[in-house]
Amino acid sequence: KRIVVLISGSGSNLQAIIDACQLGRLKAEIVAVFSNKAEAFGLQRARQADIPTEYLAVGEYIGREAFDQALMDKIDDYRPDIIVLAGYMRILSASFVAHYLGRLVNIHPSLLPKYPGLHTHRRVLENKDRQHGASVHFVTEQLDGGPVILQAAIPVLSTDSEQDLAKRLLIEEHRIYPMVIQWLIEGRLTLINHQACLDGHPL
Ligand code: GRF
Repeated sequence: KRIVVLISGSGSNLQAIIDACQLGRLKAEIVAVFSNKAEAFGLQRARQADIPTEYLAVGEYIGREAFDQALMDKIDDYRPDIIVLAGYMRILSASFVAHYLGRLVNIHPSLLPKYPGLHTHRRVLENKDRQHGASVHFVTEQLDGGPVILQAAIPVLSTDSEQDLAKRLLIEEHRIYPMVIQWLIEGRLTLINHQACLDGHPL
């Protein structure tokens, strides 16, 4: 199977996926890494692994529709089976989501449906939650609102800062994201009537 990964930043989840491919845990090829940020460190990680990279500058397009259409066109040149969002920090247009529905996944640093959007670690601390986590979900039109596939939880310690939480959570993200992608590759994971199913059973 052919995977395209979209990033905007550090790309540590991308790295976990690259490593899983290299170890044979993921039976897939990352055919391209796309970024909307030229300076994203993840682009260097991709180059290091000999994966083609594409940078699309938001400023060169007028409006989200035009940008996302250009993005889709470029992505489709690589004929991907699966589109993976890994720290891609732009809201996607409805037509983009519709075009890849069922084969487009994201990882979000909260126990969804808690805390969609930004600053999840901060909000967990502000609310004195005792538990935090990450969620892998199918992407739908609703921001961070698509059907959840798999979550990992961590305890919140009284000494934790936002950075501590982010760091500990990333370890879990790097564990669960490649697992879910492998389920997708094997055809075990499907989106049926807005419901995530594993081996045909609703999750
Ligand atoms: C992760 O926390 C992920 O959950 C969120 O963005 C961050 C990306 O980190 N969507 P990285 O670029 O993979 O290191």
